[in-house]
Amino acid sequence: MIPNTLDTPGGPLSRPAPDWWREAVVYQVYVPSFADADGDGIGDLRGITDRLDHLAGLGVDALWLTPFYPSPWTDAGYDVSDYRGVDPRHGTLDDFRHLVRRAHGLGLKVIVDVVPNHCSDQHPWFAEALASPPGSAARDRFIFREGRGPDGSLPPADWKSKFGGGAWTRVPDGQWYMHIFSAEQPDLNWENSDVLADFEGILRFWLDLGADGFRVDVAHGLRKDLVEPLRDTGGRDSASLNSPTEGEDHPFWDRDEVHEIYRAWRKIIDSYAPARITVAEAGVSAARLPLYTRPDELHQAFNFFHLRCPWDAEEFRKVIDTSLSGARAVGTLPTWVLSNHDVVRHRTRYSLPQGIDYRAWLSGGGTDPAPDDALGHRRARAAALLTLALPGSAYLYQGEELGLPEVFDLPDDALRDPMWERTGRTTRGRDGCRIPLPWTRSGSSHGFGPGGSWLPQPDGWGEYAVDAQTGRPDSFLELYRTALSVRTRFRGDESFAWLPARDGELAFRKGRFECRINLSETPLPLPDGAVLLASDSLEGNMLAPDTAVWTAVTGG
Ligand code: GLC
Repeated sequence: MIPNTLDTPGGPLSRPAPDWWREAVVYQVYVPSFADADGDGIGDLRGITDRLDHLAGLGVDALWLTPFYPSPWTDAGYDVSDYRGVDPRHGTLDDFRHLVRRAHGLGLKVIVDVVPNHCSDQHPWFAEALASPPGSAARDRFIFREGRGPDGSLPPADWKSKFGGGAWTRVPDGQWYMHIFSAEQPDLNWENSDVLADFEGILRFWLDLGADGFRVDVAHGLRKDLVEPLRDTGGRDSASLNSPTEGEDHPFWDRDEVHEIYRAWRKIIDSYAPARITVAEAGVSAARLPLYTRPDELHQAFNFFHLRCPWDAEEFRKVIDTSLSGARAVGTLPTWVLSNHDVVRHRTRYSLPQGIDYRAWLSGGGTDPAPDDALGHRRARAAALLTLALPGSAYLYQGEELGLPEVFDLPDDALRDPMWERTGRTTRGRDGCRIPLPWTRSGSSHGFGPGGSWLPQPDGWGEYAVDAQTGRPDSFLELYRTALSVRTRFRGDESFAWLPARDGELAFRKGRFECRINLSETPLPLPDGAVLLASDSLEGNMLAPDTAVWTAVTGG
């Protein structure tokens, strides 16, 4: 008998190890912007510890902490100068130990970010490489090459940086080094044994401190085709490309050799108990993504196809089918992701016409066209129920439970994303999805901390605050709380089947509950079934456009 009440508590995972992660809800904490205990305007580990009750009360199973390691902050922490420490702006190693202890006490797992593709140019290895001659062992940990042309003044290949401009920077003695991202983020050479050994040590360091796993940054970029002469890519601008085109033999994206690294890592991960996990950030094709989650490699990979899916029933159906079959082929389940710290927040994406280039829209000032926020609001709520109903694990980005929109009108001088300067101030970058969270309607930085906030919070931000939404039945926060609580009842039964649906509707059964979502422009009658939760009010037993509903399977 499925109870038709909403009284199931959320919180700690009931699912036992070793596969706790298969259907976990993981909450992404973007450390600089979650909570600031020391008042310097930048989020820190103590701030997170102080707010863990919010996460436990929300009903998530794990948190993923974005980088908090010592860093000059060219890329807000994704430029690491010491992989075994905590940046003073985020706290201390003791703060990390305390956070893990407290999280574990609340039944929450803690996943940390590992950034293996590149380090900071302030990392001691890079300083040593610069001080050492061409051809030295210290340079071999990076990708240094002679330039082209009679005086070597042309880069060794035409590779482009993902942040704009070229992927090569020249050093005073004339050699060039490679960086997929900013010049302050030199790529490591994953054919070098020091690099391999050091990262194995780094994984063990955090596992020994109690981390429950790793999110692997740029997992598809580590291995490069370094056979001489280096191959050009045809000058394509990789700022707009996450991945090679299907079937392409690209010199640095998604090379087969990268999997050797994850097979070695998996052995380390599996030597720890209770079970730890890894999740790949790999912008590769749907056909190639499952390769990263083969049984002896990483556990999960972010599903960016779901994130990028247009608001269209057929498109969602294709993404869901492909994701499920791809993951099942390697014995796992997909992840489902709507937002993260690198993309325009989904409430805002859904408020814009289909097919728009969000980054171009943002760079044009976010007004052409003007977002239809009421539409984005409805769709984001419906998308949450869709996402949380699918078999697999869901990754939530901090603030989506508050329905935060993208802040698209930050003043130019507030922008911190390196993309802004590297593109000659033409691409506004990712700051608008990274605005510090509002916890309280009023007070300094809306409860983010006792000081200011490193990115300005816009007027009206307090209306999204946790305290402003708590107890308001129609709020985003209460929708997420209820959804996560109901979801725990259906976790573990991974069976999935499409149900007959009308044009523009998605309907499926997962275990003993059903989800329907109306992506058409007309209301659709609701079938029988005890309603567990709806993303908006159901009037006259109709499912309005841009609305989703969960029902319990009756009888049987
Ligand atoms: C990943 C991160 C992004 C960062 C980049 C370089 O894509 O998510 O924020 O800028 O890697 O480390």
